[in-house]
Amino acid sequence: MEKFERLTGAAAPLMRININTDIIIPINRLISYKRGELGPWCFEAWRYAAEGVEIPEFVLNKPRYRHAKILVAGDNFGCGSSREHAVWSLSDFGFRCIIAPSFGDIFYWNCFQNGLLPIRLPENKVKELAAEIELTEDASMTIDLKTLSIATPTGREIAFTTDPERREALLEGLDDIGMTLKFDAQIRNHQSRDRKARPWIYRREETSRVARVLILAGDGIGSEIVAEVQRVVEWFMAKRRLAIELREELFGISAWKAYGELMRKETWDEIVAADAILFGAIGSPEYGQLPAAAREVDQLLRIRKELDLFCNLRPVRTLAALRACSTLRPDVIEGCDLMIVRELCGGIYFGTPRAREKLADGSERAVNTCMYTTAEIERIARTAFELARVRSGRVCSVDKSNVLTETGGLWRDTVQTLRDRHYQDISLSHMYVDNCAMQLVRAPKQFDVLLTENLFGDILSDCAAMVAGSLGMLPSASMGPLRPDGGRHALYEPIHGSAPDIAGKGIANPLGAIMSFALCLRYSLGLPQEADRLEGAVAAAISRGARTADIAQPRDNAISTKTMGDAVLKELEQTQ
Ligand code: IPM
Ligand code: MG
Repeated sequence: MEKFERLTGAAAPLMRININTDIIIPINRLISYKRGELGPWCFEAWRYAAEGVEIPEFVLNKPRYRHAKILVAGDNFGCGSSREHAVWSLSDFGFRCIIAPSFGDIFYWNCFQNGLLPIRLPENKVKELAAEIELTEDASMTIDLKTLSIATPTGREIAFTTDPERREALLEGLDDIGMTLKFDAQIRNHQSRDRKARPWIYRREETSRVARVLILAGDGIGSEIVAEVQRVVEWFMAKRRLAIELREELFGISAWKAYGELMRKETWDEIVAADAILFGAIGSPEYGQLPAAAREVDQLLRIRKELDLFCNLRPVRTLAALRACSTLRPDVIEGCDLMIVRELCGGIYFGTPRAREKLADGSERAVNTCMYTTAEIERIARTAFELARVRSGRVCSVDKSNVLTETGGLWRDTVQTLRDRHYQDISLSHMYVDNCAMQLVRAPKQFDVLLTENLFGDILSDCAAMVAGSLGMLPSASMGPLRPDGGRHALYEPIHGSAPDIAGKGIANPLGAIMSFALCLRYSLGLPQEADRLEGAVAAAISRGARTADIAQPRDNAISTKTMGDAVLKELEQTQ
């Protein structure tokens, strides 16, 4: 932008009031002409009788004003729309300064952005000035922005004021961006310090590569249901421009058959590098035939533990159309919507010592240890409280502190203390797990966020499946802590397991797995609207009668896994 310090040139008087931006530059001209080409069309309606035929009386057509650089105008100049072209056309005409009693607000600030100086003077002064211009032979004036003074055509001095920051910008020839860039070095300095202190804020920038999503179908019905998930993922890639890198690895028995390992090193590397894992299921009678050493470590538990997927979310929602599938009375489950927040990396699942040993008398003794630390409890409780804040503000924490006075006691105390310190807006209740199991089937609607430790969460979530109608319907998300690089490991799986009894028959319900991908869209890919779209499509498919065997009534025609996938895809198409 050209600097504005001192301007000398002819001034033209145009003492009409309310000159609006449409008069300054008509809308049809901004469609066909660009900045730099708008000068000929400035005040078009007043300047020309027909295209190119000038009206000689119009002030800017008079020879002495044709090259005016200063415009002296009536009240409320530049009112009307926010169109920046108004300022551009005046500049293109040759104006660099406008003097008026008042301006349209947006026009006024647009002037500074584009190197045009707007000066507000009291109305009587503007009128005097206009009269003086008309009377003097030489309409020439000088505007000095440094000294904030105007030298009129007769040599009088008029002082004016303006916004000090805008004045500085004009003097330096800078617009807002230019003014900000003056602090470029300081901004960069601050950012590099801030990037180290709060890396998560810069996450998007640093991970602007597309997200990697890894498919692990696993055992049993895993491959059948995941095939449907894959079709849904591909639909989002093709139709909703979902940008992800989709990969796939063999895992479990199929990997054993192909490579002689349940999870080979390459698969592990993929797991660690993935932004999200779409998991099918684990478990098969065939594990019984594997060498004991291969069976020693449960590979799913290994992933959970090594990726520190401590936070397991299991949403349970009753779909109106599925009320009849549940063994619970429709009025008990209708409208139920709860979230189980299960701790997934601690407790008896991982505690040591654990052993099974022979005793002297030939019998055996087995030990498992339930163990929790304050930090482990706090981080999962925090998640529950945060979720409650965006839900109904209620958390029910589950424990067995009347018997397991150590782990249960620590659980209850820690959750309560955290609530009292940081989440006073949340209403927290505590419930023994046995009572909770009963309450879940007696009156599930009393719950919103259910916070539980690992083993209780496993049991209660199967129990809550009856609230949703079928275990086949329930999705889950398992997430790790935020890493310093801003990423977060996450695994999405249906909670139903591998169902070996129906594996290979093509009749399993893929909806739990498909809904797990919806959670992936929401939590890992940052696309909540696409998640809603998918959940909506699943609900629509069901309400139109699509039923796999697990959710079919005797009068229903149960459809296959693949046909259920088709039904969801068809509904997705409808959302387009
Ligand atoms: C679940 C499953 C797992 C668990 C098994 C497969 C290890 O039942 O996710 O609920 O017990 O956590
Ligand atoms: Mg389970």
